[in-house]
Amino acid sequence: MLISKELIEEIRSRNDIVDLIGSYVNLKRAGSNFNGLCPYHGEKTPSFTVFPGTQSFYCFGCGAGGDAFTFAMRSENLDYPGAIEFLAKRAGITITAADQEKERGGIGKQKVLEMNLEAAKYFRACLFDKELGQVGMDYFVNKRRLPMTIIKRFGLGFAPNSYDGLSKHLKSKGYSDEELQVAFLGRKMEKNGRTWTNDMFRNRVIFPVINTTGDIIAFGGRVLDDSKPKYLNTSDTPGFKKSKNLFALNYAKNHCAERLILCEGYMDVIALHAAGFENAVATLGTALTQEQARLMAKHTKQVLICYDSDEAGQNATRKAVRMLSEVGLDVKIIRMDGAKDPDEFIKKFGADKFRQVLESSRTGFEFKLESVLSKYDVALVDEKIKAAQEMRDYISDVYSQVERDVYASQTAQKLGVSLEGLKNDIEALRKKKIKSYNAKTEQEIRLGAMGIGDRVNPDGIKNIKAKSAEEAVIGLLLLREEYRGLVTSGKVELSRDDFISDFHGRAFEKIIELERADQYDFSMLGEFFNPDEMGRLQGLEQKRRMLTENGREMFSSCVETVKKEKKISASSGDGVDSINALLEQKRGAKKK
Ligand code: UTP
Ligand code: MN
Repeated sequence: MLISKELIEEIRSRNDIVDLIGSYVNLKRAGSNFNGLCPYHGEKTPSFTVFPGTQSFYCFGCGAGGDAFTFAMRSENLDYPGAIEFLAKRAGITITAADQEKERGGIGKQKVLEMNLEAAKYFRACLFDKELGQVGMDYFVNKRRLPMTIIKRFGLGFAPNSYDGLSKHLKSKGYSDEELQVAFLGRKMEKNGRTWTNDMFRNRVIFPVINTTGDIIAFGGRVLDDSKPKYLNTSDTPGFKKSKNLFALNYAKNHCAERLILCEGYMDVIALHAAGFENAVATLGTALTQEQARLMAKHTKQVLICYDSDEAGQNATRKAVRMLSEVGLDVKIIRMDGAKDPDEFIKKFGADKFRQVLESSRTGFEFKLESVLSKYDVALVDEKIKAAQEMRDYISDVYSQVERDVYASQTAQKLGVSLEGLKNDIEALRKKKIKSYNAKTEQEIRLGAMGIGDRVNPDGIKNIKAKSAEEAVIGLLLLREEYRGLVTSGKVELSRDDFISDFHGRAFEKIIELERADQYDFSMLGEFFNPDEMGRLQGLEQKRRMLTENGREMFSSCVETVKKEKKISASSGDGVDSINALLEQKRGAKKK
């Protein structure tokens, strides 16, 4: 493959979709998304939606959808390579330059990892050096109260207050200035035409970041006082991507089969491990990314979010709840009263108290209800209404009827509104949402019945039951790495030939091919599918995201249906009659 997943990710991350589409379409914020009039079909009320969270767009009116690349293809009339070039240019990167940068001077991943290991040994030696490391050791032991076992276990270190201590050391081992810079261990300096390299980390305590295969991939360095920036982190290098790794997952991975604790900071994680909570991890100085959410889903079932109790921490919590739920994780939120973060909490109240807090963690619903209650003054009528509406929106997305009822009654009680009324509102909104997702399908069926085929998936008409099961399977494969893994590992047996629709068969094949090559990324599909097809794929994934019932059982049962329907159709020819049956069934359901 000519274009790597990394390059695609890089180009996409530098072309924010809201910004990109916003320069063609007038977008208005609607909750966490943006709406506008669809540029691809005439409409008066906006059904064109841009999702910043997934960097995608979808029109609920005409089914156009996709990512930044699909949008560029459609709007600029380009082919896939053309769209890549267009967006690269827009972000100020020329593709060859980006490729060169990645392999700058031929310095690859392996070399950087070797240098990191050498640097980690150096930082550790400095920390344990009586003279050089005294301030660092004093900071860890006295200021942060870390036991020696933890200091050693986490491989903590100290970068002395020297301009070239590490640089000299690494050069004596044969590494060049350029290699130091590429690895983010040396800073390029320039004065009066003279260039040289200084140490990147100076007078900071060092936290090495180790991945699950045991390579040292990055460092975080903290100042000893209140100077800024508080932390300096390795930025992306050929051996490391911040957005795809988690601090301490290398230790936590053996203790997290049931659940992980997600915190904000290095020090939080270390304090938790020291107190016996070895299932704690943190992001690396950025907000949680989708890749990190997927990484967690690979290792555990439940995530307890334990962010700082300040406003920034609570906002970040809201976003994290959504992202983690989307990849199928069970999410709970921890509240720490009387402390700003887990590190402080444990120091103040001890490990036992923290264990109690863990057990009394709140669900996503409880967290939502609390934040709505603190946002509105429900003693005022119009604020009470707004609060009820916000809760109604939230609850209407919950798949289980039982859960919706429980949430409704708790909400009604807390807000002081009528349960009957709230329940009716929730169910009405839910119906409306489902109807709008189904409207498109129904229209396709009608057109199909009239002989006007579904251009993207002309075979869909042959067997409606198979079509919707196939759509669910493709949607779930697009949504979750977990399911792609089930197929690539052979735990779920499914092949291209099990699909009745050629389009779904092709989609299945390409998704799995990319996954096998560790190159799966929605955007990579752009090489194989045209914008109409990409829109359909986007729609299938979007539909799953909104339906919220996306568990393993759902996946297995849809796979079974796909296989069963294929067998039936293979033995009995095409089942065109099922269209009428389905339209009848829908009409019947409506009258009821
Ligand atoms: P905090 O400011 O909460 O730091 O930032 P902390 O980890 O609790 O550290 P202490 O207890 O004050 O020493 C949380 C995380 O955000 C990132 C780091 O990953 C940090 O652990 N961060 C913070 C940065 O990357 N750079 C900064 O300047 C500050
Ligand atoms: Mn903190």
